[in-house]
Amino acid sequence: MTNNTHEPISAQEAVYFIFGATGDLAKRKLFPALYSLYREGKLGEKFAVVGLARRPRTKEQFQDDVHQSILEFCRYKPTELDNWEGFVSHFSYQSLDIANVEGFRTLKDHTEALEVQYQIPGNRLFYLALAPELFGSVSRSLRDGGMLESAGWHRLVIEKPFGYNYPSAEKLNEEIRQVFREEEVFRIDHYLGKEMVQNIEAIRFANSFFEPLWNNKHIANVQITLAETVGVEDRGAYYNKSGALRDMVQNHMLQMLTMIAMEPPSRLDAEDIRDEKVKVLRSIRKLRSGEEIRNNIIRGQYAQGTSRGKELKGYREEESVDPESTTETFFGARLFVDNFRWAGVPFYVRTGKRLPVKSTEIVIEFNNVPNHVHFASKQKLLPNLLVIRVNPMEGIYIKMNAKKPGNEMTIQPIAMEFCQSCQVGINTPEAYERLIYDAARGDSTYFTRWDELAVAWRLVDPFAEAWREDESDLQFYAAGSWGPQKVDDLLSEDGYHWWPVNGQDEDNVIWVSNSGK
Ligand code: BG6
Repeated sequence: MTNNTHEPISAQEAVYFIFGATGDLAKRKLFPALYSLYREGKLGEKFAVVGLARRPRTKEQFQDDVHQSILEFCRYKPTELDNWEGFVSHFSYQSLDIANVEGFRTLKDHTEALEVQYQIPGNRLFYLALAPELFGSVSRSLRDGGMLESAGWHRLVIEKPFGYNYPSAEKLNEEIRQVFREEEVFRIDHYLGKEMVQNIEAIRFANSFFEPLWNNKHIANVQITLAETVGVEDRGAYYNKSGALRDMVQNHMLQMLTMIAMEPPSRLDAEDIRDEKVKVLRSIRKLRSGEEIRNNIIRGQYAQGTSRGKELKGYREEESVDPESTTETFFGARLFVDNFRWAGVPFYVRTGKRLPVKSTEIVIEFNNVPNHVHFASKQKLLPNLLVIRVNPMEGIYIKMNAKKPGNEMTIQPIAMEFCQSCQVGINTPEAYERLIYDAARGDSTYFTRWDELAVAWRLVDPFAEAWREDESDLQFYAAGSWGPQKVDDLLSEDGYHWWPVNGQDEDNVIWVSNSGK
């Protein structure tokens, strides 16, 4: 991201504190992200990383953990030619009981020594890869242990879930805000760190042909799909309390929707962009009565099924899951953004575990040409689509109609795709790399501000409430299928259908693509 003068802001020298340093997130995402940043020269040499967790570990053991994690999960592999020792020597470890302020005083001494060693001017970034219940007490201990007394900046980076509903999120926020100011808090939604989610802004605001069409006069509907093939894996205990609504919808799905629907911000800076996103969230039609919710919101849970010839368990048979659980593993909805730009345009969203493919896509379906006029009187024409492919393939394609070569005036659909991740030599940064880098240079554009989060909770809380009161709407779907039939009905009621993800199953479409399709 850029500042107002559009000059890149460089990362500043800092000590990075990883709370939860022996956990999964640190291993899979955070250490690899730090290494990639280092390899690309974005960390410089004036930095230190302190791993913190309850478990005792020596510095050498910790450095070895970091090495293993990078070998397994990083997009760069350390080779003998790289300065691996130079990188890992910046890492140290301290075993810490977060309820004990004494440990934070020891940490303070350790940190001051590192700051002298690496010439770091007191900038401290606290990454809490911890359960949210601990955010408040860690914040207090940081303050009481003197960790916030250095001359530089102090930033708190926290992970979702941020609360369980609006009241719990508000309580958590109050606890954090007793210690940190809002501008010091960086709430991660890793979807905002994805290349193609950030690209939505460029696609919309750097092209003159989309913006005039970007409204209810020309767009028929928007479809957002976030499909996963995995089940709940070993996260049954967490997931059973969260479900798809809290795990994916309140955050990732709504963030993508706001990026599509927001007004052009007056400037490309963090507060202006986030102001526009909050306005979208506030404009989403509130569904309050049980009936309104049932007519527009579908929840499902995967039952036994098969995928690619493999038998798959139902959710209720998964480890640590209550065998009578009514937790949703699938969420589908028809939402409306009630403002002048979008009035009447349905936004269909769906996300689920154990679906047939892993894919996140946003489809903008444009209004079709008038029926019975010219070409449309002779054959059925498909509407134009703009498709933003978020992952695993990153890119965009547009679908339009053109003449089939030959003597007859026959129309055929063509798809023109730019696959960004297919380009040779492109190795795009992972979401966590961008987000850590942004936090280290104080750019909060792609982090969730408290008011955004608050509106998002207020929007989804009534759904959970309605489900608690009446469990009869829970739909079961076979693992490996596209979810409950009712989510297809939502669109067919309006005369639409879900466009196949990955453009599959569309034999008559001619593709022009750099993906080798
Ligand atoms: C996480 C959810 O936030 O996002 C997981 O907790 C989910 O349940 C994951 O699997 C999906 O992220 P991605 O980047 O793999 O699409």
